[in-house]
Amino acid sequence: MTLFMHACCFFLKILTLPLQVAESVGLLAFYKRFFPFVVYRMTFSYNGKMNDKKRELFLNLTKFNPPDGPLRILEVGCGSGANFEHYPTGCKIICTDPNPHFRNYLEKSMAKNDHLIYDNFIVASGENLQAVEDNSLDVVVCTLVLCSVKNTLNVLQEAKRVLRPGGAFFFIEHVASDPSSWTYFFQHVLQPLWYYVGDGCDTTRTTWKHLEAAGFSDLQLRHIQAPFFFIIRPHIVGYAVK
Ligand SMILES: C[S@@+](CC[C@H](N)C(=O)[O-])C[C@H]1O[C@@H](n2cnc3c(N)ncnc32)[C@H](O)[C@@H]1O
Ligand SMILES: *[C@@H]1O[C@H](CO)[C@@H](O)[C@H](O)[C@H]1NC(C)=O
Repeated sequence: MTLFMHACCFFLKILTLPLQVAESVGLLAFYKRFFPFVVYRMTFSYNGKMNDKKRELFLNLTKFNPPDGPLRILEVGCGSGANFEHYPTGCKIICTDPNPHFRNYLEKSMAKNDHLIYDNFIVASGENLQAVEDNSLDVVVCTLVLCSVKNTLNVLQEAKRVLRPGGAFFFIEHVASDPSSWTYFFQHVLQPLWYYVGDGCDTTRTTWKHLEAAGFSDLQLRHIQAPFFFIIRPHIVGYAVK
């Protein structure tokens, strides 16, 4: 079975060879401009189906209120700002994303959610948040981002660095399925193509293992099946306390 899976995967890799070449010579750069539009549109249907889950998760934000002043939140890979409506009134938000072309869509979401205070949009990868001070935030939020980062552990370390002691990392991510399932099989077989459709998205990651290994003091993590296209159904939802 594994051998068959690897053979299929290899076949897909050969089929996507033109895309690999195009990427290596920089021909796919235009997709970075187009992708924010895709994400912005996708967010409406995603949020429609995940609204209850998001609301339930983000109810826990108030547990991390600082003794004085508003809750300070940083979003890693904020994209077009898909979570703002779930943040309590008066929160202070720093947005970060490596793709500067999200700015217009992000500003649309900010305009719709004027119950929050927007501090800054920093163009940066989650692996390197050097513009942000140590221990300066109550909450870091990361939704549908760890599937496309270069180094998950570095992102988690950076999140821990910028969080104050007792602050929390909130996440919603799609992850690898159970290895005995067909979903797992197709996640691996379709991955070489999916990578290009999803701007570097990897459906085969066991992200919960990184969260378990990152040295948080408390980890609230649930595996759920979200109502989407089968290869991105398996999700993890929760938060980890520094
Ligand atoms: C599918 S979108 C999700 C956007 C948003 N968080 C949401 O929930 O709708 C993935 C986002 O991750 C960003 N991203 C890709 N690589 C990243 C990295 N290394 N660090 C931080 N964000 C990254 C992309 O630019 C994009 O905004
Ligand atoms: C967050 O809080 C609510 C109720 O306050 C709870 O039902 C939920 O399971 C909590 N945790 C997560 C990970 O959503």
